[in-house]
Amino acid sequence: MARPEWLNKLENPWRQNPWFESVAVAQQRARKRLPKPVYMALVAGSERGQTIEDNQRAFTELGFAPHVAGHHAERSMSRTVLGQEISLPVIISPTGVQAVHPDGEVAVARASAARGTITGLSNFASKSVEEVTAANPNTFFQMYWTGDRDVMVQRMQRAHAAGVKGLMATLDWSFSMGRDWGSPEIPEKVDLKTAIRFAPQVATKLRWMWLFGKEMEIPDLTAPNLAPPNGGAAPTFFGAYYEWMTTPPPSWDDVAWMRQTWADLSGTPFLLKGVCRVDDAKRAVDAGVDAISVSNHGGNNLDGTPATIRALKPVADAVGDQIEVLLDGGVRRGSDVVKALALGARAVMIGRAYLWGLAANGQAGVENVLDIFSSGIASALLGLGKTSIDELSPDDLVIPDGFFRDLGE
Ligand SMILES: Cc1cc2nc3c(=O)[nH]c(=O)nc-3n(C[C@H](O)[C@H](O)[C@H](O)COP(=O)(O)O)c2cc1C
Repeated sequence: MARPEWLNKLENPWRQNPWFESVAVAQQRARKRLPKPVYMALVAGSERGQTIEDNQRAFTELGFAPHVAGHHAERSMSRTVLGQEISLPVIISPTGVQAVHPDGEVAVARASAARGTITGLSNFASKSVEEVTAANPNTFFQMYWTGDRDVMVQRMQRAHAAGVKGLMATLDWSFSMGRDWGSPEIPEKVDLKTAIRFAPQVATKLRWMWLFGKEMEIPDLTAPNLAPPNGGAAPTFFGAYYEWMTTPPPSWDDVAWMRQTWADLSGTPFLLKGVCRVDDAKRAVDAGVDAISVSNHGGNNLDGTPATIRALKPVADAVGDQIEVLLDGGVRRGSDVVKALALGARAVMIGRAYLWGLAANGQAGVENVLDIFSSGIASALLGLGKTSIDELSPDDLVIPDGFFRDLGE
Protein backbone atom coordinates (compact mmCIF):
# COMPACT_ATOMS: atom_id res chain seq x y z
CA MET A 1 0.00 0.00 0.00
CA ALA A 2 1.38 3.45 -0.94
CA ARG A 3 2.17 5.72 1.99
CA PRO A 4 -0.27 8.64 2.15
CA GLU A 5 1.21 12.01 1.21
CA TRP A 6 0.53 13.54 4.63
CA LEU A 7 2.59 10.79 6.25
CA ASN A 8 5.54 11.53 3.96
CA LYS A 9 5.41 15.17 5.03
CA LEU A 10 5.17 14.40 8.73
CA GLU A 11 8.31 15.41 10.56
CA ASN A 12 9.61 13.26 13.36
CA PRO A 13 8.00 14.98 16.38
CA TRP A 14 10.78 13.69 18.66
CA ARG A 15 13.54 15.19 16.55
CA GLN A 16 15.43 17.65 18.73
CA ASN A 17 16.26 21.14 17.49
CA PRO A 18 20.03 20.75 16.96
CA TRP A 19 20.66 24.39 17.98
CA PHE A 20 21.70 24.94 21.59
CA GLU A 21 21.68 28.16 23.59
CA SER A 22 24.68 27.65 25.86
CA VAL A 23 27.85 25.61 26.15
CA ALA A 24 26.33 23.89 29.20
CA VAL A 25 23.46 22.60 27.04
CA ALA A 26 25.98 21.37 24.43
CA GLN A 27 27.78 19.50 27.21
CA GLN A 28 24.52 17.85 28.35
CA ARG A 29 23.94 16.65 24.77
CA ALA A 30 27.53 15.43 24.47
CA ARG A 31 27.07 13.44 27.65
CA LYS A 32 23.97 11.76 26.24
CA ARG A 33 25.45 11.06 22.83
CA LEU A 34 29.00 9.96 23.40
CA PRO A 35 30.03 6.54 24.68
CA LYS A 36 31.10 6.99 28.31
CA PRO A 37 34.87 6.52 27.76
CA VAL A 38 34.85 9.15 24.98
CA TYR A 39 32.87 11.60 27.12
CA MET A 40 35.13 11.03 30.13
CA ALA A 41 38.24 11.57 27.99
CA LEU A 42 36.93 15.09 27.27
CA VAL A 43 35.97 15.78 30.89
CA ALA A 44 39.59 14.83 31.72
CA GLY A 45 41.07 16.78 34.68
CA SER A 46 43.62 15.39 37.12
CA GLU A 47 44.03 14.29 40.75
CA ARG A 48 41.22 15.78 42.91
CA GLY A 49 40.11 18.23 40.20
CA GLN A 50 41.00 21.40 42.14
CA THR A 51 42.37 23.22 39.08
CA ILE A 52 39.68 22.18 36.63
CA GLU A 53 37.06 23.43 39.10
CA ASP A 54 38.87 26.69 39.93
CA ASN A 55 39.28 27.51 36.22
CA GLN A 56 35.50 27.90 35.93
CA ARG A 57 34.68 29.07 39.46
CA ALA A 58 37.12 32.00 39.31
CA PHE A 59 35.13 33.53 36.43
CA THR A 60 32.03 33.53 38.65
CA GLU A 61 33.88 35.58 41.29
CA LEU A 62 34.33 38.43 38.80
CA GLY A 63 31.43 40.77 38.12
CA PHE A 64 30.69 43.68 35.78
CA ALA A 65 30.23 47.41 36.45
CA PRO A 66 27.59 48.27 33.81
CA HIS A 67 26.22 51.56 32.47
CA VAL A 68 22.52 52.29 32.23
CA ALA A 69 22.50 54.60 29.18
CA GLY A 70 24.88 55.97 26.57
CA HIS A 71 25.22 52.54 25.01
CA HIS A 72 26.39 52.03 21.42
CA ALA A 73 24.71 50.18 18.57
CA GLU A 74 28.08 49.39 16.94
CA ARG A 75 30.30 46.97 18.81
CA SER A 76 33.50 45.70 17.25
CA MET A 77 35.17 42.49 18.31
CA SER A 78 37.65 41.88 15.50
CA ARG A 79 41.35 42.08 16.29
CA THR A 80 44.77 41.08 14.98
CA VAL A 81 46.11 38.13 16.96
CA LEU A 82 49.32 36.21 16.15
CA GLY A 83 49.56 38.20 12.92
CA GLN A 84 46.06 37.22 11.76
CA GLU A 85 42.96 39.41 11.54
CA ILE A 86 40.23 37.44 13.32
CA SER A 87 36.51 38.21 13.62
CA LEU A 88 36.20 37.44 17.31
CA PRO A 89 38.87 37.17 20.03
CA VAL A 90 38.26 33.45 20.52
CA ILE A 91 40.67 30.85 19.12
CA ILE A 92 40.41 27.08 18.95
CA SER A 93 42.89 25.58 21.41
CA PRO A 94 44.54 22.36 20.21
CA THR A 95 43.08 19.14 21.61
CA GLY A 96 43.83 15.55 20.71
CA VAL A 97 40.22 14.81 19.72
CA GLN A 98 39.95 11.13 19.10
CA ALA A 99 36.61 9.49 18.36
CA VAL A 100 34.30 12.43 19.15
CA HIS A 101 33.08 12.83 15.57
CA PRO A 102 34.21 11.21 12.29
CA ASP A 103 35.16 14.61 10.83
CA GLY A 104 37.08 15.49 14.03
CA GLU A 105 39.52 18.37 13.67
CA VAL A 106 38.45 18.94 10.04
CA ALA A 107 34.92 19.81 11.22
CA VAL A 108 36.43 22.11 13.85
CA ALA A 109 38.66 23.76 11.21
CA ARG A 110 35.73 24.31 8.83
CA ALA A 111 33.66 25.83 11.61
CA SER A 112 36.43 28.16 12.77
CA ALA A 113 37.09 29.21 9.15
CA ALA A 114 33.35 29.91 8.69
CA ARG A 115 33.40 32.15 11.78
CA GLY A 116 36.70 33.83 10.87
CA THR A 117 39.07 32.59 13.52
CA ILE A 118 42.23 30.56 14.06
CA THR A 119 42.26 26.82 14.64
CA GLY A 120 44.98 25.20 16.75
CA LEU A 121 45.79 21.63 15.66
CA SER A 122 47.29 19.21 18.17
CA ASN A 123 50.22 17.00 17.20
CA PHE A 124 48.13 14.23 18.84
CA ALA A 125 45.15 15.00 16.59
CA SER A 126 43.25 12.39 14.60
CA LYS A 127 43.40 14.31 11.27
CA SER A 128 46.43 15.30 9.24
CA VAL A 129 47.77 18.83 9.18
CA GLU A 130 47.30 18.86 5.38
CA GLU A 131 43.56 18.14 5.67
CA VAL A 132 43.16 20.72 8.39
CA THR A 133 44.98 23.58 6.62
CA ALA A 134 42.84 22.81 3.54
CA ALA A 135 39.74 23.32 5.73
CA ASN A 136 41.08 26.43 7.51
CA PRO A 137 44.22 28.12 6.08
CA ASN A 138 44.42 29.95 9.39
CA THR A 139 45.79 26.94 11.27
CA PHE A 140 48.48 26.91 13.96
CA PHE A 141 50.25 23.60 14.61
CA GLN A 142 50.85 22.58 18.23
CA MET A 143 53.82 20.47 19.31
CA TYR A 144 54.83 18.88 22.57
CA TRP A 145 58.51 18.42 23.42
CA THR A 146 58.67 14.86 22.12
CA GLY A 147 61.25 12.93 20.13
CA ASP A 148 64.76 14.14 19.38
CA ARG A 149 65.60 17.44 17.69
CA ASP A 150 65.83 15.88 14.20
CA VAL A 151 62.36 14.40 14.58
CA MET A 152 61.00 17.73 15.83
CA VAL A 153 62.50 19.55 12.85
CA GLN A 154 60.88 17.03 10.46
CA ARG A 155 57.51 17.64 12.08
CA MET A 156 57.98 21.41 11.89
CA GLN A 157 58.94 21.10 8.20
CA ARG A 158 55.84 19.07 7.45
CA ALA A 159 53.56 21.58 9.22
CA HIS A 160 55.23 24.48 7.43
CA ALA A 161 54.90 22.73 4.05
CA ALA A 162 51.20 22.21 4.81
CA GLY A 163 50.88 26.00 5.15
CA VAL A 164 50.32 26.57 8.88
CA LYS A 165 50.48 30.20 10.03
CA GLY A 166 52.46 29.57 13.21
CA LEU A 167 53.58 27.12 15.88
CA MET A 168 52.28 26.58 19.41
CA ALA A 169 54.59 24.77 21.81
CA THR A 170 52.92 23.19 24.84
CA LEU A 171 55.48 22.40 27.52
CA ASP A 172 53.51 22.34 30.76
CA TRP A 173 52.64 18.62 30.88
CA SER A 174 53.59 16.76 34.09
CA PHE A 175 52.39 13.21 33.25
CA SER A 176 49.93 13.08 36.13
CA MET A 177 48.35 9.63 36.02
CA GLY A 178 45.20 9.49 38.12
CA ARG A 179 41.93 11.24 38.84
CA ASP A 180 39.47 10.63 41.69
CA TRP A 181 36.49 10.10 39.32
CA GLY A 182 38.35 7.42 37.37
CA SER A 183 40.04 7.45 33.99
CA PRO A 184 38.37 6.18 30.82
CA GLU A 185 39.79 3.04 29.30
CA ILE A 186 41.35 3.86 25.93
CA PRO A 187 42.15 0.87 23.70
CA GLU A 188 45.55 0.65 22.00
CA LYS A 189 43.82 0.04 18.67
CA VAL A 190 40.30 -0.69 17.51
CA ASP A 191 39.94 -4.28 16.27
CA LEU A 192 37.20 -6.88 16.55
CA LYS A 193 38.25 -7.92 20.06
CA THR A 194 38.13 -4.31 21.25
CA ALA A 195 34.80 -3.73 19.49
CA ILE A 196 33.26 -6.67 21.38
CA ARG A 197 34.72 -5.55 24.72
CA PHE A 198 33.45 -1.97 24.33
CA ALA A 199 30.09 -2.99 22.80
CA PRO A 200 28.04 -2.55 26.02
CA GLN A 201 29.24 1.06 26.42
CA VAL A 202 28.75 1.92 22.76
CA ALA A 203 25.59 -0.01 21.86
CA THR A 204 23.18 2.51 23.41
CA LYS A 205 24.81 5.47 21.65
CA LEU A 206 22.92 5.08 18.40
CA ARG A 207 23.52 8.57 17.04
CA TRP A 208 27.29 8.32 17.57
CA MET A 209 27.35 4.84 15.97
CA TRP A 210 25.30 6.12 13.04
CA LEU A 211 27.75 8.99 12.38
CA PHE A 212 30.76 6.71 12.24
CA GLY A 213 28.83 3.94 10.39
CA LYS A 214 27.64 6.40 7.71
CA GLU A 215 31.26 7.34 6.98
CA MET A 216 32.25 3.65 7.05
CA GLU A 217 34.86 4.67 9.57
CA ILE A 218 35.94 3.47 12.97
CA PRO A 219 38.16 5.68 15.11
CA ASP A 220 41.67 4.33 14.54
CA LEU A 221 43.29 6.12 17.51
CA THR A 222 46.52 6.99 15.75
CA ALA A 223 48.41 10.31 15.55
CA PRO A 224 48.95 10.93 11.80
CA ASN A 225 50.99 14.10 12.35
CA LEU A 226 53.65 12.14 14.21
CA ALA A 227 54.18 9.64 11.37
CA PRO A 228 57.79 9.39 10.15
CA PRO A 229 58.49 10.93 6.74
CA ASN A 230 58.27 8.95 3.47
CA GLY A 231 55.02 7.14 4.16
CA GLY A 232 55.88 5.52 7.52
CA ALA A 233 52.95 4.34 9.67
CA ALA A 234 51.45 6.79 12.17
CA PRO A 235 52.05 5.81 15.80
CA THR A 236 49.15 4.76 18.00
CA PHE A 237 48.09 7.21 20.69
CA PHE A 238 49.98 5.12 23.26
CA GLY A 239 53.04 4.86 21.03
CA ALA A 240 53.05 8.66 20.74
CA TYR A 241 52.55 9.06 24.48
CA TYR A 242 55.46 6.70 25.19
CA GLU A 243 57.79 8.74 22.96
CA TRP A 244 56.71 11.88 24.80
CA MET A 245 57.16 10.37 28.30
CA THR A 246 60.65 9.14 27.50
CA THR A 247 61.88 12.43 26.01
CA PRO A 248 64.01 14.40 28.52
CA PRO A 249 62.09 17.57 29.53
CA PRO A 250 63.07 20.83 27.80
CA SER A 251 65.28 23.57 29.23
CA TRP A 252 64.87 27.29 28.48
CA ASP A 253 67.68 26.88 25.94
CA ASP A 254 65.56 24.21 24.24
CA VAL A 255 62.65 26.66 24.11
CA ALA A 256 64.92 29.26 22.50
CA TRP A 257 66.17 26.61 20.03
CA MET A 258 62.65 25.57 19.09
CA ARG A 259 61.54 29.17 18.62
CA GLN A 260 64.59 30.04 16.52
CA THR A 261 64.32 26.88 14.42
CA TRP A 262 60.68 27.63 13.69
CA ALA A 263 61.43 31.28 12.89
CA ASP A 264 64.27 30.32 10.49
CA LEU A 265 62.08 27.73 8.81
CA SER A 266 58.85 29.65 8.49
CA GLY A 267 59.16 33.29 9.57
CA THR A 268 55.78 32.91 11.32
CA PRO A 269 54.82 33.42 15.00
CA PHE A 270 55.69 31.09 17.88
CA LEU A 271 53.41 30.82 20.92
CA LEU A 272 54.41 29.18 24.20
CA LYS A 273 51.38 27.59 25.85
CA GLY A 274 51.21 26.79 29.55
CA VAL A 275 52.74 29.84 31.26
CA CYS A 276 51.31 30.70 34.71
CA ARG A 277 54.14 32.60 36.42
CA VAL A 278 55.49 36.11 35.89
CA ASP A 279 59.13 34.93 35.99
CA ASP A 280 58.41 32.29 33.33
CA ALA A 281 56.66 34.89 31.18
CA LYS A 282 59.82 37.05 31.36
CA ARG A 283 61.99 34.07 30.42
CA ALA A 284 59.69 33.35 27.49
CA VAL A 285 60.28 36.92 26.31
CA ASP A 286 64.05 36.35 26.63
CA ALA A 287 63.69 33.12 24.62
CA GLY A 288 62.25 35.23 21.81
CA VAL A 289 58.64 33.96 21.72
CA ASP A 290 56.00 36.12 20.02
CA ALA A 291 53.13 35.14 22.32
CA ILE A 292 52.25 33.11 25.39
CA SER A 293 49.05 31.50 26.57
CA VAL A 294 48.40 31.73 30.28
CA SER A 295 47.21 28.16 30.56
CA ASN A 296 47.17 25.21 32.94
CA HIS A 297 46.16 22.73 30.22
CA GLY A 298 42.51 23.06 31.23
CA GLY A 299 43.22 21.54 34.66
CA ASN A 300 44.47 18.27 33.14
CA ASN A 301 47.97 18.75 34.40
CA LEU A 302 49.49 19.73 37.76
CA ASP A 303 46.47 19.85 40.06
CA GLY A 304 46.55 22.73 42.53
CA THR A 305 47.68 25.24 39.91
CA PRO A 306 45.38 28.28 40.32
CA ALA A 307 42.76 29.27 37.77
CA THR A 308 44.43 30.96 34.83
CA ILE A 309 42.15 34.00 35.07
CA ARG A 310 43.66 34.66 38.53
CA ALA A 311 47.22 34.55 37.12
CA LEU A 312 46.49 36.54 33.95
CA LYS A 313 46.75 40.19 35.04
CA PRO A 314 50.12 39.96 36.82
CA VAL A 315 51.55 38.24 33.71
CA ALA A 316 49.94 40.68 31.27
CA ASP A 317 51.15 43.67 33.35
CA ALA A 318 54.71 42.28 33.27
CA VAL A 319 55.09 41.34 29.59
CA GLY A 320 51.94 42.43 27.72
CA ASP A 321 53.74 45.40 26.14
CA GLN A 322 56.40 43.09 24.63
CA ILE A 323 54.51 40.01 23.49
CA GLU A 324 50.89 38.96 23.00
CA VAL A 325 49.30 37.37 26.08
CA LEU A 326 46.42 34.96 25.54
CA LEU A 327 44.45 32.98 28.10
CA ASP A 328 42.83 29.58 28.20
CA GLY A 329 41.08 27.55 30.88
CA GLY A 330 37.44 27.52 31.95
CA VAL A 331 36.13 29.89 29.26
CA ARG A 332 32.49 28.93 28.63
CA ARG A 333 30.67 32.15 27.65
CA GLY A 334 31.12 35.51 25.96
CA SER A 335 31.18 37.31 29.30
CA ASP A 336 34.17 35.16 30.34
CA VAL A 337 35.98 36.35 27.21
CA VAL A 338 35.21 39.98 28.06
CA LYS A 339 36.55 39.49 31.62
CA ALA A 340 39.79 38.00 30.27
CA LEU A 341 40.23 40.81 27.75
CA ALA A 342 39.57 43.42 30.46
CA LEU A 343 42.40 41.85 32.50
CA GLY A 344 44.90 42.04 29.63
CA ALA A 345 44.37 39.04 27.33
CA ARG A 346 44.67 39.75 23.63
CA ALA A 347 42.34 36.80 22.96
CA VAL A 348 41.22 33.58 24.62
CA MET A 349 41.61 29.99 23.55
CA ILE A 350 38.81 27.49 24.12
CA GLY A 351 39.05 23.72 24.60
CA ARG A 352 36.11 21.79 26.04
CA ALA A 353 33.57 24.39 24.89
CA TYR A 354 34.08 23.51 21.21
CA LEU A 355 34.52 19.79 21.96
CA TRP A 356 30.99 19.77 23.47
CA GLY A 357 29.72 21.55 20.36
CA LEU A 358 31.48 19.06 18.09
CA ALA A 359 29.97 16.13 19.97
CA ALA A 360 26.51 17.72 20.01
CA ASN A 361 26.26 18.66 16.33
CA GLY A 362 29.52 18.31 14.36
CA GLN A 363 30.72 21.36 12.41
CA ALA A 364 27.41 23.20 12.97
CA GLY A 365 27.78 22.56 16.70
CA VAL A 366 31.22 24.22 16.75
CA GLU A 367 29.80 27.16 14.77
CA ASN A 368 26.96 27.29 17.29
CA VAL A 369 29.50 27.53 20.13
CA LEU A 370 31.43 30.33 18.40
CA ASP A 371 28.13 32.16 17.83
CA ILE A 372 27.31 31.83 21.54
CA PHE A 373 30.67 33.50 22.28
CA SER A 374 30.06 36.30 19.74
CA SER A 375 26.61 37.14 21.02
CA GLY A 376 27.80 36.95 24.64
CA ILE A 377 30.68 39.34 23.90
CA ALA A 378 28.33 41.72 22.06
CA SER A 379 25.87 41.66 24.94
CA ALA A 380 28.57 42.39 27.56
CA LEU A 381 30.02 45.22 25.44
CA LEU A 382 26.55 46.75 25.15
CA GLY A 383 25.98 46.63 28.92
CA LEU A 384 29.40 48.12 29.58
CA GLY A 385 28.81 50.95 27.08
CA LYS A 386 31.74 50.02 24.82
CA THR A 387 32.05 50.29 21.05
CA SER A 388 34.95 47.87 20.85
CA ILE A 389 36.84 45.20 22.77
CA ASP A 390 39.82 47.61 22.61
CA GLU A 391 38.12 49.84 25.22
CA LEU A 392 37.91 47.16 27.93
CA SER A 393 39.89 47.63 31.15
CA PRO A 394 39.86 46.32 34.76
CA ASP A 395 37.59 49.28 35.64
CA ASP A 396 34.76 47.45 33.88
CA LEU A 397 34.96 44.61 36.38
CA VAL A 398 34.05 44.02 40.01
CA ILE A 399 37.13 42.26 41.35
CA PRO A 400 37.09 40.86 44.91
CA ASP A 401 40.07 41.48 47.18
CA GLY A 402 42.69 38.77 46.94
CA PHE A 403 41.47 37.54 43.56
CA PHE A 404 44.80 37.65 41.73
CA ARG A 405 47.65 35.17 42.02
CA ASP A 406 50.93 36.91 41.35
CA LEU A 407 53.27 33.94 40.82
CA GLY A 408 57.04 34.53 40.71
CA GLU A 409 58.79 37.82 40.07
C1 LIG B 1 40.38 16.35 25.86
C2 LIG B 1 41.46 17.37 25.83
C3 LIG B 1 42.59 17.17 25.06
C4 LIG B 1 43.61 18.13 25.02
N1 LIG B 1 44.68 17.92 24.21
C5 LIG B 1 45.63 18.89 24.11
C6 LIG B 1 46.69 18.75 23.20
O1 LIG B 1 46.81 17.76 22.48
N2 LIG B 1 47.60 19.76 23.14
C7 LIG B 1 47.50 20.89 23.92
O2 LIG B 1 48.35 21.78 23.82
N3 LIG B 1 46.49 21.04 24.78
C8 LIG B 1 45.55 20.09 24.88
N4 LIG B 1 44.49 20.26 25.73
C9 LIG B 1 44.39 21.53 26.48
C10 LIG B 1 43.62 22.58 25.67
O3 LIG B 1 44.34 23.02 24.55
C11 LIG B 1 43.29 23.81 26.51
O4 LIG B 1 44.47 24.31 27.10
C12 LIG B 1 42.25 23.54 27.59
O5 LIG B 1 41.26 22.64 27.14
C13 LIG B 1 41.61 24.84 28.01
O6 LIG B 1 40.69 24.63 29.03
P1 LIG B 1 39.12 24.48 28.76
O7 LIG B 1 38.88 23.11 28.26
O8 LIG B 1 38.52 24.71 30.10
O9 LIG B 1 38.73 25.53 27.74
C14 LIG B 1 43.48 19.31 25.79
C15 LIG B 1 42.34 19.52 26.56
C16 LIG B 1 41.33 18.56 26.59
C17 LIG B 1 40.10 18.84 27.42
